[in-house]
Amino acid sequence: MKMFLKQLIIILFLLALAGTAQILAQQKELLPDNPLQGRELFTTKKCIKCHAIQGVGGRIGTDLGKVNMDRNFLEMVSSLWNHFPRMNEAFKKEKLLWPSFTEKEMRDLITFLYTVNYFDQLGDPKIGEMLFQEKNCFFCHSVGGNGRGKNRSLDDYQYQISPAFITSQLWNNGPKMAKEMAKQRVPRPVFKDRDVIDILAFIKEKGLTSKTNRFYLQVGSPQKGEKIFKDKKCLHCHPVDSRKKSIGPELISKKLKGSQSYIMSKMWNHGSKMWKKMAEEKIKFPKITPEEMSNLTMFLYFLQFEDPLGSAATGKKLFQDKQCQICHFSNSEGQGIGPDLRRLNLNSSLSIVTAMWNHAPEMQEMFVGLNIRWPRFENQEMTDLMEYIISSQRK
Ligand code: HEC
Ligand code: HEC
Ligand code: HEC
Ligand code: HEC
Repeated sequence: MKMFLKQLIIILFLLALAGTAQILAQQKELLPDNPLQGRELFTTKKCIKCHAIQGVGGRIGTDLGKVNMDRNFLEMVSSLWNHFPRMNEAFKKEKLLWPSFTEKEMRDLITFLYTVNYFDQLGDPKIGEMLFQEKNCFFCHSVGGNGRGKNRSLDDYQYQISPAFITSQLWNNGPKMAKEMAKQRVPRPVFKDRDVIDILAFIKEKGLTSKTNRFYLQVGSPQKGEKIFKDKKCLHCHPVDSRKKSIGPELISKKLKGSQSYIMSKMWNHGSKMWKKMAEEKIKFPKITPEEMSNLTMFLYFLQFEDPLGSAATGKKLFQDKQCQICHFSNSEGQGIGPDLRRLNLNSSLSIVTAMWNHAPEMQEMFVGLNIRWPRFENQEMTDLMEYIISSQRK
């Protein structure tokens, strides 16, 4: 009897581990190398006919660059799903076929939409000049020949297009700058959301550099950023696994929602305390190249893309509340109006939502016929529902 119990415990333990491994594998799948890979799908799947991104594209639907799309994967899918009936109406009116997706296409397109909010809008050089003054930068640096620190001109940033150039150099020179500031009794500057972008716009307008080559960076890669996050020991204080005790704040929480310059500014603002902690923990101050900064902040931006763990129990309830059970596995043999979801090989949220998307027009027709309201999903509901559907397949 005891032997049996022991075996049972081991089996249960292994099952639990297999479950975790699957979730981790799924999360990994959501961390892209190139987050803009789905850019073309926006055109080839005709989204651009009705939607613009920052003003470029159609006007029938919402400008997707202007709504907050930086939610986690299934929240974004929910948003698409909730709008389906009106979107489908527009499709019919425009005589467009409902575009079907492979799983990869679905993931890539949602990833692309998620990334749109990462890019900063254009800066304002007038505000930038004011900030430069206000934050005492003129005290030690010059731009376009103005300022006290002529030997520390920042003109070269004129042609360095990404904010990663200036923020990485700010970071690398941070400790030295802090020392000088303490000596000169100038307060250490902190940056709000758009400050860095405005300052850069000012430098771009007034800088007088002798160099004229423009320097660009490739768009950051979340996968490369993850590796840098480990290599630079950020993980030591900011574990990505919330069960671990952490020395620094938990970065997965909603705190880091914002554009590239917002995330970079957060790192800078908290820098002085972080550097002190690094010394305490005997971690060498990590220098960061512009390319690394760009990858690192893109990784931080993607921390919130992953869905939280769902609850199968809540999902089971939702399956009823949202009326799915009327058509799916409504009796024990699974002979409903719709296919028995337990028998399909839908073992990840991605595969389920892709199938839902592809079958949405047929489902909606049936909803209308049976007089069922189109079910809407808020917050974490989709995650819980997916967890339930996946767990029902494991049985
Ligand atoms: C034929 C026109 C049309 C096409 C093509 C189209 N949509 Fe839409 N879409 C709409 C309309 C109209 C709405 C607004 C529906 C509403 O307000 O309920 C909408 C809403 C949305 C929303 C919700 C936006 C919000 O306000 O939160 C998302 C996301 C979306 N569409 C994504 C897409 C994607 C991705 C594609 C391409 C696969 C696409 N749409 C193709 C017409 C279209
Ligand atoms: C008290 C003096 C002081 C103030 C004020 C100051 N800095 Fe610095 N800054 C330094 C020092 C010292 C360095 C280290 C490099 C050096 O010694 O030339 C530095 C380096 C930099 C660098 C990287 C080096 C380079 O040339 O590219 C940037 C970028 C920079 N500062 C931007 C700013 C900005 C933006 C402000 C205002 C928000 C500012 N600094 C305010 C003293 C200062
Ligand atoms: C030795 C521990 C330690 C290391 C290593 C470390 N951090 Fe931190 N980090 C902290 C602490 C402590 C804070 C909070 C500081 C404060 O309260 O001002 C912080 C704050 C932050 C914040 C701001 C979070 C917020 O509240 O908005 C970001 C972003 C961040 N760290 C990113 C990084 C990155 C990226 C790395 C690796 C290059 C890194 N950290 C390495 C300890 C660390
Ligand atoms: C009015 C009946 C009805 C309701 C209610 C309904 N479905 Fe369906 N569903 C169908 C039908 C019919 C199909 C098959 C459509 C087809 O063949 O294109 C389907 C297909 C699907 C598929 C794709 C299966 C495959 O073959 O890959 C998924 C996933 C799915 N539904 C999930 C749901 C979820 C989740 C809910 C609740 C939010 C729901 N359905 C509510 C009728 C319904």
